Parts: sequence; C-alpha cells; structure tokens
Amino acid sequence: MTENNNPDRIIIFDTTLRDGEQSPGASMTLEEKLRIAEVLDELGVDVIEAGFPIASNGDFESVREVSASVRNAAVCGLARAHDTDIDRAAEAMQSAKRKRIHTFISTSPLHMKYKLQMEPEDVHAAVISSVTRARSYTDDVEWSPEDGSRSDHDFLCRCVESAIDAGATTINIPDTVGYAVPAEFGALIDMLMNRVPNIDKAVVSVHCHNDLGLAVANSLAAVSNGARQVECTINGLGERAGNAALEEIVMGLRTRKDVLPFETRIDTTQIMRASRLVSAITGFVVQPNKAIVGANAFAHESGIHQHGMLQHAQTYEIMRPEDVGLTKSKLIMGKHSGRHAFREKLKDLGIDVGDNAVEDAFRRFKDLADKKKEIFDEDIVALVDDAVIRSNDRIQVVSLKIVCGTEGPQTAELTLSVDQAERTTKANGDGPVDATFRAIRELYPHEARLQLYQVHGVTGGTDAQAEVTVRLEENGRTVNGQGADTDTLVASARAYVNALNKLVVNREKSVSALSA
Ligand code: KIV
Ligand code: ZN
Repeated sequence: MTENNNPDRIIIFDTTLRDGEQSPGASMTLEEKLRIAEVLDELGVDVIEAGFPIASNGDFESVREVSASVRNAAVCGLARAHDTDIDRAAEAMQSAKRKRIHTFISTSPLHMKYKLQMEPEDVHAAVISSVTRARSYTDDVEWSPEDGSRSDHDFLCRCVESAIDAGATTINIPDTVGYAVPAEFGALIDMLMNRVPNIDKAVVSVHCHNDLGLAVANSLAAVSNGARQVECTINGLGERAGNAALEEIVMGLRTRKDVLPFETRIDTTQIMRASRLVSAITGFVVQPNKAIVGANAFAHESGIHQHGMLQHAQTYEIMRPEDVGLTKSKLIMGKHSGRHAFREKLKDLGIDVGDNAVEDAFRRFKDLADKKKEIFDEDIVALVDDAVIRSNDRIQVVSLKIVCGTEGPQTAELTLSVDQAERTTKANGDGPVDATFRAIRELYPHEARLQLYQVHGVTGGTDAQAEVTVRLEENGRTVNGQGADTDTLVASARAYVNALNKLVVNREKSVSALSA
C-alpha cells in the first residue's frame, strides 16, 4: 500500500500514461510508455497510473510491462465497476512490486441517468461490489466517484462511506468536467472530511480537469482542506484541456510552504527532463509562457527586471531555474571532444541509455560539431533522444538530396533502407517537404494520413538543430514520429519515417495479437 503516515506529505499520483494518453493525438507506443515510466519513477512520483487494461490489448500490455519495470512507485491500473475490468487490471499488474487497482463509477445525477442509465441504488451496490472485488487482489484500492464535483452531497457521502467500508484505501474525488472553482471544491473536500464517519481510514485524493484553467488551483484548495493525494500529469496533458500539471502542483507546494505547509517526494531537478520527454514523445509543444516548464518561465527580458535581478535574484524570481533542472545553457564541447567526455556529459545530464544509442549519438555529435560552431546541452539531449527513438526502426533514412527554390519543381531524391535492403526514388512535390513525403510513400506505400507536421528549433541561431514531429493516422490509430537534424528536411524525413515505423510495428503487433 502507498503508506502515508506523515500528515503533511502529499502523495503524487501521476496519470500521464492513462488520462494523459487519452488526449487526442497523444497516443504512445509501448517503448515510449516505458521510457516515460522510468523517468516518472526517477522523478519520485508515488503512484504511476499506467493505463486502462480492459481498454485494449495495447493498454493491457503497457500496464504489464510498466509493472515489471518500475522499481519504486506503485503501479496502478484503471477499471470500471465491472468484474471483467477489475480482473484484467489485476492480471496486468501481477508482476508489480506494489500494485493499486483504481475502480470508478459515476455518481452525479446527470451521469447516472444518461451515461449509465442506472438507478442510484444500483450504483451504490456496484460501488460495494467493485471495491470488494478489487480488494480480493490487492490491499491498495482506490475508488473514484466520476463527476464527483457535480454529485449530490448526501449520495456522495453515502458512496464514499460504503467504499471505505468495502476496503477502499484511497478515495479520489474527480472534477471530471473541470467545472469547479477553488472555494467550492475546497469546501466539497471539507464537507467530506467532516461528514463521512470513516474518512480517517482512507487517503483523500483529487483529480481535477482544466476546462476553466482551474485544475491546479482546485487541487491546491483541496489540499488545504484535507486532501493528501493529488492526481496530475506532466505538462498538464490529459482529456480536453488536460489535468492538473504535476510541475505546477509540486512547485506551488514547494514555493509557498508558508501557506501550504506540505511535502512531496519529488526530485524537482528532474522536472524539465520529464517535461521535455513527454513533449517530444507526444508532439504536444509546451507553450513558451507555460508556468514552470515553458521556455520563458525563467527568462527576464525587460530592462527593469534584468536590473532588479542583477541587484538581487529574488526581486523577480520566486523559484530558481536549477530547482526544476534548468541548468544554464552551457557551451559544452567542440569537435575535439572525445568519447569519454561525451559519456561524462551524458552522465551530467542524467541520461542513461544503452551502448548502441551512445555510439550512434556520439557519431552524430561529431558530424554536428563539424557543422555547428557551438554545441549546447539541448543539442546533446536532442541527439540522444533521436538515437534512442530510432534504434529499433526497421525503416531508416539513408540519404536525402533536395532541389528547391523559386524555380520548381521541387524534387527529393531519397534512399531508405527497409529491413537492411536499400531502395531509392526521386519525387516532385509542392515544396521540398511535400516532395520528401511523397518519396517516402513511393518507397514504402501506405495508407496513413498526415495529421500534424511541426518544426521547432532546439536552440537559437540559424545553425540550430530542427526538431520535427510528424503525426500519422491509420484506421483510427495515431502515432507521433520525431526527428532532429541541422537540416530541417532531413529531420522531417526522419520524423515521418519514425512515425511510419511505429505504425508498421503496431500493425504487426495487432496482427499477432489477433492470431494469438
Ligand atoms: O476525470 C475523471 O473523472 C477520471 C476518472 C476515471 C478518475 O479520469
Ligand atoms: Zn480524468
């Protein structure tokens, strides 16, 4: 069980891999989920909600693999109030060191009538039977009344009391549609703390959505009124406008200890790393002015602010950039730096990848050093991410030659290696990107549709590496591919091919699952 004997400790429950992955376009492959789970574990989250095992074979597989790989955090699987859901969640988490089953059912009049088409009495009975069943598998059971913030208080209290009597150890109150405002949501938690007679036998948790931009404020109001677990996601990823952002909750608690005297187990210096990874994998760019992890969150542009900062940092800075893992962009190495220095740098950056990825990244670092005068930490992170992302790809970009400019047609001459056999073609297009993507389609015919093409510079300067995200969709399944290079078109080809690899691998996986 996730013990919380310290009354001032807030349990951080991360649902990036479950609620976060439910955002349209944010779907992740198994390998990507495992990388995120590893970083979440290093970040120090207490619970990782790894998925909804009954939802699909892919979800089941990821909860199973995350359960086997996570070392410190408890792993949680979501289940509706159905026996089959609960059994499947328990099966997926068999190898977890610590497992939690999170079962839920709607309790608001609107949801019970229109979504569930159930009478309140039947919902109440389902609360008891689902929690009882979950308890037969683990003594760490979380129960959530979906749309809790819009539920009738008497009915909510009754269901919470029964869930605790049936064995729930965490009671999570969701603001499912992001409708609550802080004073009201805080009062709801206070009401439960005062009215539910056995509430002291469970940890009270909150799960707030951000439809009105109040998810973090509502969560902190709940903490002030007795909640001791907060459910959140990296970068606030999640259904619709997202969930409460982990980094904002954690830094809010840390920075305003004077009014929020609580602690978490989070190693805040890992926040930027987790944020960058989730953004790179999902293709969801973090807005520059996003609190804590936005590119401008610690930038002081105006002369007055800069002057104040030089006199005393606290004039305009309430948190230190290094507290969230933002080291000053340092000029790190040049083209004469060797393998040893490169490995040391990776260690400094907290990057731990296999030998093949290091070798590949080192080779590309040398190439980059020939092209780019100054190499920054961000360049190294992008190189390594790129090498790791690509290490298992069956289709690889071998070479690309582009003809473009005011005189058309724009042409791409591309060589791909598919299962180690090379194929070459030349294609024209409406611009060099279109020509490149057409060439890929000629060499590896497929039906997937392009949904997103996005470019951003890893650092400043005209010689910066471009980091490209491509999102492809095929039969309702979306995947994101990434590519980085100083040549935007090479990065684009790599990103497209990376997405294609994921689709091909996924397609093969679902075929083998069907025949299993
Ligand atoms: O938003 C919500 O209500 C949920 C529940 C499953 C907790 O995600
Ligand atoms: Zn949710």
